[in-house]
Amino acid sequence: MKLWRRGLLLVLVMMFSQGKESEGQLVENFYSASCPNVESIVNQAVSRKRDQTIITLAATLRLFLHDCFVEGCDASIIIASPNGDAEKNFADNLSLAGDGFDTVIKAKQAVEAQCPGVVSCADILAVAARDCVVLAGGPSFPVELGRRDGLISKASRVAGNLPEPTFNLNQLTTMFSKHNLSLTDVIALSGAHTLGFSHCNRFSDRLYNFSPSSTVDPSLNPDYAKQLMATCPIAVDPNIVMTLDPDTPFTFDNAYYRNLVAGKGLLSSDQVLFSDSASRSTVLNFANNADNFNGAFVTAMRKLGRVGVKTVEAQCLGIVSCADILAMAARDCVFFAGGPSFPVELGRHEGLISKASRVAGNLPEPFFDLLQLNTMFAKHNLSLTDVIALSGAHTLGVSHCNRFSDRLYNFSSSSPVDPSLNPDYAKRLMVTCSKEADPGAISNLDPDTPFTFDNVYYKNLVGGKGLLSSDQVLLSDSASQPTVLDFAKNPGNFDGAFVAAMRKLGSVGVKTGIQGEVRRDCTTFNS
Ligand code: HEM
Ligand code: HEM
Repeated sequence: MKLWRRGLLLVLVMMFSQGKESEGQLVENFYSASCPNVESIVNQAVSRKRDQTIITLAATLRLFLHDCFVEGCDASIIIASPNGDAEKNFADNLSLAGDGFDTVIKAKQAVEAQCPGVVSCADILAVAARDCVVLAGGPSFPVELGRRDGLISKASRVAGNLPEPTFNLNQLTTMFSKHNLSLTDVIALSGAHTLGFSHCNRFSDRLYNFSPSSTVDPSLNPDYAKQLMATCPIAVDPNIVMTLDPDTPFTFDNAYYRNLVAGKGLLSSDQVLFSDSASRSTVLNFANNADNFNGAFVTAMRKLGRVGVKTVEAQCLGIVSCADILAMAARDCVFFAGGPSFPVELGRHEGLISKASRVAGNLPEPFFDLLQLNTMFAKHNLSLTDVIALSGAHTLGVSHCNRFSDRLYNFSSSSPVDPSLNPDYAKRLMVTCSKEADPGAISNLDPDTPFTFDNVYYKNLVGGKGLLSSDQVLLSDSASQPTVLDFAKNPGNFDGAFVAAMRKLGSVGVKTGIQGEVRRDCTTFNS
């Protein structure tokens, strides 16, 4: 008996315990239950920020790359350290425009207002990066979600993990391949340089210090080189920037590749994609065919978004409510005890109120008569048949003696024993539950098959062996008696009525959407 109850408890504890952190897969609809509007909230925040400054789009997109390449896409780039030793403080990251950080911070604030503690900054950055591409006129694509934010952000761990503008193709592919990104991905992702700016010092060697034989990089278009020299003279102010795509710097398009063909790649790592024969044909393809570029860019961005992500083992953090787990577990307990199985409707959110002071008067008492039972259950849209069928749950489990001892010793002035009790059964109960019984003493609710979910409970009622007064009354009262007799004779009828009633019970007062939350830990509110 004890073992049986412990077994069920174990199942529940396992179901309610949280998954531990590990690498895992992302899913597109990760927040559909816990924060269904997350993408539109982020989108609005990114649009508002773009309206303030167009730099937002390039800044956020670059931020995403720099986040993903160091510790994985985990928002570690956004951590601010009072000691100035976080990722963002690394020299190359100091050139990340502040508007990218601000975009994520603003979007996170907007998301928190609606779904506190649910959506990671890493996921917000991934969604925002996609939105920036779209807002600049590029392709849209679904973003996989479920990233957890990282716990490490150190400037000392950045060196060697970000691509340099001086890299040749081999160096680029070596670095990208560590993150499962192919040569095509390198070429497609570099197309992000269709947006934004570079500081002069990132390419000035191409203008003034290329090689002993040629001060200017010969792969540079001579007219373009002259334009660059005008903007970036020797010893230029270090803040001066040049657009990466000289033609359409605020539009996400394939002009970047046409520029490469014309010798107008700003960084050496851009131009090398056309100079190197291994990548040239793909550059030409993307230059001639915007759809091919868009398709390859989307594929590569989705791959980039998976780099080193931390997820929850169960892949379901923030998705499944404890309320739904309890509903499914209750169904499973019926089934494991030999009862019927049935589909459980899902989508409940957790409530935000749990007070002892609000319980009184809302739970059925073991001394209730049929009218009292009916009245309470009717408040929850449960009929008389539902009352009778659900009471059949007392085919399992136990009751403490004090819940029915009045039926044995203190029923009425004329008869201390409840006359509706079978006399033999009453005697047995008096043995288990003496007048001075230990308050821990218990008796099975179904004396015959207490571990099996069956219709014996109703047969017991017919035999005067209902343990609680509220059980026996179902036979005593003429309004419920015919249904009890039916269930006692026809287990199929009981099963059908029980399933129907359990499904109704499971829809009592459910909360969906923002009426509730999905608790991370079933025993505490999220905030
Ligand atoms: C292929 C290797 C890459 C190299 C060597 C590289 C290097 C650079 C450099 C040096 C800058 C100029 C930074 C400055 O001076 O302010 C820059 C800007 C930028 N990069 Fe890259 N990058 C690479 C790949 C990528 C990728 C994969 C993305 C995104 C998917 C990206 C997005 C951007 C954007 C949008 C800017 C402009 C930022 C702004 O205007 O604020 N880059 N990159
Ligand atoms: C009809 C009104 C109901 C009343 C008055 C009632 C009352 C009680 C009482 C007094 C106990 C014994 C508690 C104890 O002393 O430990 C009990 C146990 C139990 N009740 Fe009910 N109950 C009712 C309906 C239900 C329903 C609708 C279900 C489920 C669908 C249910 C499932 C159970 C189970 C499984 C136990 C045994 C628990 C265990 O062994 O730990 N009851 N009930």
